[in-house]
Amino acid sequence: MFGCPQPGIEKFVWPVFVISGHGVDEPLSAMPGQSRMSADILIKKLDPLVTDGLGGVLLFGVPDRSSKDAQGSGAFHPEEVIPRTVTALKRAFPELIVFTDVCLCAYTDHGHCGLLAADGQVDNDATLALLQKTAVTHAHAGADVVAPSAMMDGQVQAVRAALDAAGRQQTLLMSYSTKFASCFYDPFREAEQSAPSHGDRHGYQASYHDLRSALRESLLDEAEGADILMVKPALFYLDIIQRLRQKTDLPLAAYNVSGEYAMLIAAAERGSGDLGRMVRESITAIQRAGADMIISYWANQYREIIG
Ligand code: PBG
Repeated sequence: MFGCPQPGIEKFVWPVFVISGHGVDEPLSAMPGQSRMSADILIKKLDPLVTDGLGGVLLFGVPDRSSKDAQGSGAFHPEEVIPRTVTALKRAFPELIVFTDVCLCAYTDHGHCGLLAADGQVDNDATLALLQKTAVTHAHAGADVVAPSAMMDGQVQAVRAALDAAGRQQTLLMSYSTKFASCFYDPFREAEQSAPSHGDRHGYQASYHDLRSALRESLLDEAEGADILMVKPALFYLDIIQRLRQKTDLPLAAYNVSGEYAMLIAAAERGSGDLGRMVRESITAIQRAGADMIISYWANQYREIIG
């Protein structure tokens, strides 16, 4: 009766990797229990989760390698895997909340999240226009929430303005408002085939040494018009979640990232602890810190592991 309950499945958003084709289901060795899926397989797997009340699904596209280019133009092509999957999902499950990742890194041949200038650095302002096109493409396909993750300065304002101009005032914007330059994203990069071919992302992701600047970044995104804020990763950043919870009335998401997921599986495999108990303790901690929704790979195993 007292205290923080364990979060129900309705608090969970399942991040998934979508690939073109039919009947494709490629298990990911770095993330047991997850796979790259074509839309038809995703729909099959979602069916029981939607019945159980899953909060939402967050789509990441895995385009064919041959389609990648310097601009990441696949990101905003209306016939690419994400817009097509959004439309198929909304047809199959009209009530399911569909989130889309808005970034270029899976679509660029260099693997960075934005356009590169002649000096090899990411060109912030030129990238904004491409993120706008990507978000509008997703919104037109039926996405309920677009989530820009490229971490360009001004991306929230730019994407919000583009959605409004396109008549998509109802589409919500979830900002990766505090996304740390973290080493816990490595399994994800294997899944998305999106590791940068040179350099790293420290120029555009937050430093984990600096609490105040992390909070400032998030509040700036609120001022720019974000509808949902996010802290990522989650488990090592519970202090940030808690502090941000006290500073905003917006819904707050926590992204329990790929490395946090893989870590518990590895610990359980070594006999260091019981997987279910570790998962339940960690997701309850995320909720207790103040997250309203948990973006987590445990979502598709809710019944087996958590529920
Ligand atoms: C980048 C993006 C990343 C993740 C989500 N969006 C990787 C990165 O920033 O390198 C990581 C998510 C995870 O590790 O589960 N578009």
